[in-house]
Amino acid sequence: MNPFESVSALEDAKPLDRLVGPVREGVRSLLGGGIVRDALHGVWLGHPLHPVLVQVPIGAFTSAAILDSLPVDDSAASALIATGIVSTVPAAAAGLADWSEMHEQQQRVGLIHAAANTVALLMYGASLAARRGGHTGRGKAWSYAGLGVLSFSGFLGGHLAYRQAAGANHAEAVPHLIKPGWQDLCALDDLEADGVPQHMTLNSVELVVVRRGERIDVLSDRCSHLSGPLHEGTVSQDGACITCPWHGSMFSLEDGSVRRGPATAPQHAFDVRVESGRLEVRLPGAG
Ligand code: FES
Repeated sequence: MNPFESVSALEDAKPLDRLVGPVREGVRSLLGGGIVRDALHGVWLGHPLHPVLVQVPIGAFTSAAILDSLPVDDSAASALIATGIVSTVPAAAAGLADWSEMHEQQQRVGLIHAAANTVALLMYGASLAARRGGHTGRGKAWSYAGLGVLSFSGFLGGHLAYRQAAGANHAEAVPHLIKPGWQDLCALDDLEADGVPQHMTLNSVELVVVRRGERIDVLSDRCSHLSGPLHEGTVSQDGACITCPWHGSMFSLEDGSVRRGPATAPQHAFDVRVESGRLEVRLPGAG
């Protein structure tokens, strides 16, 4: 069995749900739904924050392992391990924020990823304590063991990102599937004018159309976070935004920008015009 098949089995390990549920609810209530949670998701960055923040502890722990293999004083490696431990805190906070709004299969893998990171962190703590007690050899053994566990955890993180597409932009394909220029979508009379989202398809791409009186907004329908159906979402009272029904990401109907996470990538917003009673749409950058 190749390693990815083993991790795929982990995705379906339903007994983990007994832990996933309470931890997820604990993380959600701790973070709330405001600017702290959005900051940790990376809404301000337009990109998940967690993969950016993990560079510091990974770099520090790996550099410490290299120094430990050389005939040099132990103090620089100790400083790097301390840096790695401290910098894990914001990286873990961002990772937990993302994890709390994932699919259940992703959360099972993510739970083991977080548990492995915790074990690795304890090993590095033991390493630091041993070094400070003058037991350099034991300290090196703990940090090499920590790096081994961290590597396993990194493998799970890679599976989450590349096999399970957690953190990826799920609306990326849209401009490659839409033909350039104006496209006929529907008769204007097919649209309700009451601001209720309607589901339509263009070149196999799903769209959500919202008409409110004379104003018509068209976005790609599948949420950039994890492909939730925006046409089943809710439009704000002022008609400015639409909220995804799956994890609550909110997008501007005018330009598709993210108003609230967990999504960090915008929805594709279409230009609209009415010609001879037909609604036509155009996606800037399509083709
Ligand atoms: S799919 Fe998660 S917020 Fe839309």
